[in-house]
Amino acid sequence: MKEISITTQFSVFDSLTELPSEIQNLMEQAVAVRKNAYAPYSKFRVGAAIILDNEKIVLGSNQENAAYPSGLCAERVAIFHAGAVYPDAKILKMAITAASDTNKTTTPIPPCGSCRQSIAEYEIKQDTPIEIYFMGETGAIYKSASLKNLLPFMFHKKFL
Ligand code: THU
Repeated sequence: MKEISITTQFSVFDSLTELPSEIQNLMEQAVAVRKNAYAPYSKFRVGAAIILDNEKIVLGSNQENAAYPSGLCAERVAIFHAGAVYPDAKILKMAITAASDTNKTTTPIPPCGSCRQSIAEYEIKQDTPIEIYFMGETGAIYKSASLKNLLPFMFHKKFL
């Protein structure tokens, strides 16, 4: 038996003003679209903004359903929209923000496991990393230079 350890790396920005202006703008768009979340059940609103290599910005917010599993997270709404409308464009960066109607989220809120696997699919497809920035309603922003940092043991198409 041997043990292995895996290290992942993130950058921490203390506030929005510390971000490069392009990312600040992307995060502001994620904050704006967060208001469009349809979240009557969880009262938890998530916004995602993606910038593509064709300079288009694609947005998403979480959309819930009375049949709970039929709803979809903001990140997947955004990334599936990008794939549906711009199938040949590369996804460069994604900004994510989450805010609850019932309590203040002050720590960075990362994408859920299913969203990580979905983002991984596009990173593998395009063979270039996707930068991911995530925050709560206020507070620090974490940056991952690639989805790989968030999902070290991703399920890969090479296993099929
Ligand atoms: N949610 C997202 O939009 N993204 C995530 O990565 C985690 C959770 C949504 C799903 C649901 O509408 C609400 O947040 C509470 O789980």
